[in-house]
Amino acid sequence: MAARIFVFGSYIADMMMRTPRLPRRGETIFAGPFQIGPGGKGSNQAVAARRAGADVLFATRLGDDELGRAARRMFEAEGIDARFAVFDRDGVATGAALIMVEEGSAENMITVAIGPCAHFTDAEVDAAVAAARGSDIAVFQLETNLPATLRAIRAMRDAGTRTLLNPAPVQELPDDIFPAIDFLTPNETEAAALTGIATADEAGVRAAAAALRAKGCGTVIVTLGAKGVYVASAGFTGMVPAAPGIVPVDTTGAGDSFAGCFACAIAEGMDLVAALRFANAGAGLSTTRIGTAPAMATRAEIEARLESWR
Ligand code: RIB
Repeated sequence: MAARIFVFGSYIADMMMRTPRLPRRGETIFAGPFQIGPGGKGSNQAVAARRAGADVLFATRLGDDELGRAARRMFEAEGIDARFAVFDRDGVATGAALIMVEEGSAENMITVAIGPCAHFTDAEVDAAVAAARGSDIAVFQLETNLPATLRAIRAMRDAGTRTLLNPAPVQELPDDIFPAIDFLTPNETEAAALTGIATADEAGVRAAAAALRAKGCGTVIVTLGAKGVYVASAGFTGMVPAAPGIVPVDTTGAGDSFAGCFACAIAEGMDLVAALRFANAGAGLSTTRIGTAPAMATRAEIEARLESWR
């Protein structure tokens, strides 16, 4: 039976251009063709988990506009249960992100206007959470109004569901939320911001992960791009390398892919290291294609990559 995953979070329309290099302040540079597509960290996680094989219930907020309607069509095409993707009735436009991806490094710069996702009400949170009871895992990021996200995390945890938080875009979190998080998946910048510990080297990453566990998180997974992930948990602590043979063209959304694939794997009952390898394969594959949600890997692709990685 497929794993049941609840994703609570953002839908954002991604407006993307590839540039030979990232511009300097005040500078105009030419870019490759403009592309618009589905994105948002929550929606990307939902698509990644769905394509990895999970049944996904997704709660988000959309503008009552063409971008919002395109999002609904995308959820339907992907087979995501989006009954809690609600339209904003106050005229707030669907969230949008401006993304520049540097050719060569495949790295990016992003600004995001989260639009309707800043206005989740308690009633919307409570309705989605009630429908999500019994899920195998609940997945969150920080692209919605923070009180709503915290409310949803606490409610899912109280209902006995495991929780995963990708703390992006990073922001200050109350101390009492950490014990409600089973899996925390910061990148090294986010781990540093959450702890005040510099993560430029391996010792720093280890110290930051230990500090986040000391705050109460069950398992801390620091994503390190092409190096893989560093994990600190009750049973296993150490590195799990990235999938080999990946040539990235666009790293945007790789963290979302990692979170969605990992949630799927752990909900299916894989052990921690197997789930991390599965997620590293999925995240790596997502960087070999342009875009975010459209770049997410399918189960067949992930399994083929794992097979050739043995
Ligand atoms: O993590 C990548 C996502 O961040 C993009 O899809 C963009 O929408 C921003 O929210």
